[in-house]
Amino acid sequence: MTKKTISKVPDHVAVIMDGNGRWARQQSLSRLEGHKKGIEVARDIVKAAAKIGVSYLTLYAFSSENWRRDQQEVSGLMALLKYYLEHEMQDLHKENVRLRVIGERELLPTLILTLIEEMEELTKSNKGMTLQMAISYGSRSELIHATKAIAEKVRDHRLNPEDITEEVFEKHLYTSGIPDPDLLIRTSGEQRISNYLLWQLAYTELVFIEKFWPDFTSEDLMDAFLVYQNRERRFGTAA
Ligand code: IPE
Ligand code: IPE
Ligand code: MG
Repeated sequence: MTKKTISKVPDHVAVIMDGNGRWARQQSLSRLEGHKKGIEVARDIVKAAAKIGVSYLTLYAFSSENWRRDQQEVSGLMALLKYYLEHEMQDLHKENVRLRVIGERELLPTLILTLIEEMEELTKSNKGMTLQMAISYGSRSELIHATKAIAEKVRDHRLNPEDITEEVFEKHLYTSGIPDPDLLIRTSGEQRISNYLLWQLAYTELVFIEKFWPDFTSEDLMDAFLVYQNRERRFGTAA
């Protein structure tokens, strides 16, 4: 095997952790067992990303549309999220990770919301990697949320329509203050965005991986970084 050298670590990596259910079916396990393994992998990937020097890692844990799954799966996923927040966050705090959660928080069970608020408060001054977890997140609803906030400011004469720039709009997104992702990784072989970071992904490099999320390893993460560093980013300039 050739020696791999990562010379250019992406500053912000966004991940669509997909394929837990199919992985479970392949192993004759329940979907929830797949999600459980998925959480373990997420934990390892968070550590690997922090270690190699990623500044921002955004993980898609639960989408706005995932609420439509059957009730048993949804409550199982919520229980796993709660477990993760309770058991992993202290460790991450020790590793200087800052937690932020993006999404429609008001839809989350109170207990989870409280845990999120506690962990965000506890880790807010940490200077290591920022872990942004997208929970009950949908990009279209984020865009509408931002648009409403801007419209209210215009209505109240606190903002002139001609002053609405990309920078002003960005400040009203859940991801305000976080640079756009450099690299998006989606596992499971699906090649779509699934209502994730539609504004923020405008010039992100996309890497699709054939493995299901529970089989994804830190080695695969490094492979994705190698693909990324060989891409030529142009941002609209001539080749
Ligand atoms: C990703 O795995 C986790 C969540 C969406 C919560 P899936 O549950 O989507 O697994 P597949 O895509 O059905 O295999
Ligand atoms: C996207 O995966 C959401 C998460 C990984 C949390 P989905 O499995 O929900 O997306 P689709 O339905 O395949 O597009
Ligand atoms: Mg899926």
